[in-house]
Amino acid sequence: MAEQVRAAVRPGAELCIIVPTFNERDNVAELIGRLKSCLENFSWEVMFVDDDSPDGTADVVRELAAADSRIRCLKRIGRRGLSSACVEGMLATTAPYLAVIDADLQHDEKLLPQMLDTLKQGDVEIVVGSRYAPGGDIGDWNASRARMSRLAVRLSRLVVPRELTDPMSGFFMMRRSVLDASVRKLSAIGFKILADLFASHRPPLRFSELAYTFRARHAGESKLDSVSVWDYVMLLLDKMVGRWIPVRFLGFSIVGAAGVAVHFAVLTLILQGLHRSFTTGQAVATFCAMTFNYTVNNVLTYRDMRLRGVHWLRGWASFVLACSIGGFANLGVASTIYGLGRGWVSAAIAGILVGAVWNYAVTMMTTWGRPRK
Ligand code: GDD
Ligand code: MN
Repeated sequence: MAEQVRAAVRPGAELCIIVPTFNERDNVAELIGRLKSCLENFSWEVMFVDDDSPDGTADVVRELAAADSRIRCLKRIGRRGLSSACVEGMLATTAPYLAVIDADLQHDEKLLPQMLDTLKQGDVEIVVGSRYAPGGDIGDWNASRARMSRLAVRLSRLVVPRELTDPMSGFFMMRRSVLDASVRKLSAIGFKILADLFASHRPPLRFSELAYTFRARHAGESKLDSVSVWDYVMLLLDKMVGRWIPVRFLGFSIVGAAGVAVHFAVLTLILQGLHRSFTTGQAVATFCAMTFNYTVNNVLTYRDMRLRGVHWLRGWASFVLACSIGGFANLGVASTIYGLGRGWVSAAIAGILVGAVWNYAVTMMTTWGRPRK
């Protein structure tokens, strides 16, 4: 037995392939099989970072890991996010070379040996798999997704170098030093970890690209949805102004501005349609705006900590409770100003402003910040 244990001691892997997963159980075995065959002559491990997938992806990984110590699993609870999963996977390994690849086999794993060779030659710090470099292709995407992708690439020029042809790529390999230099500056919001790395690293990254053709997804469904667009805008904003203003506060304020529109729509209806008192109108409008703000913030601003089911209801209750204190201040201030004869519009705005700062600070800590089981 002691002999067996001694024989089992092996040096740490040289390359770690990080695979973010959410509901990918039917892709895991196939991906591992392909990694084994293309990395035969290398010292590697694969780190699946799974956000508690309901389909049991992590169980499948663990079963395979029992027979092969190169397979690892990092499971996160109550969290979501491709970028943050990649970062935490990188932090959980000691390998000096780090790669990121999707689980669904859309990326061409056969490029991995060449990526590693390129890095070992020492001139570049990161090698990016590119669909837009000469010889690469986006595969059979429909016209609207292709258009969206090109628009996202154009927007990314605000924060990444123009020479990088595919800043949206989710397939790349880098030296560990790239992580060490940028990890504290990463936004880790949404899907675009590569753009985040390029925008965060100083001095600018020395990179090269390898063209590949984006393949069709093997099994399961894409997790990219319309909310990913919001995440992307938040990432860009964070890279541009995050040093001065927390990006969640910006998100909360944008949602709040939409909430003000809801507030005024309801208030107008009650005052001019139903001819009720200002205080009644302001109270009902505040309640409607609170529910609207909670729902939208939960989907957008706090997407990575999104509350569902019974947590959603509890979150709504805590949001309403926390905001009610803000609401009382709102109502008090607004009614006082209205009583001074300043008109209902400026009275309402003053009330909303007083409530807003309170609402952000308190709901950040109570509604979404509270640790969940
Ligand atoms: N842990 C974790 N948490 N993983 C996630 C999450 C999440 O919230 N969301 C998605 N993933 C995993 C998926 O399971 C998959 O392995 C990988 O991230 C990519 O997700 P897809 O849903 O397949 O995205 P896509 O194919 O539409 O887009 C991908 O490829 C593009 C081209 O390289 C992404 O990598 C894009 O960022 C990239 O531009
Ligand atoms: Mn995919």
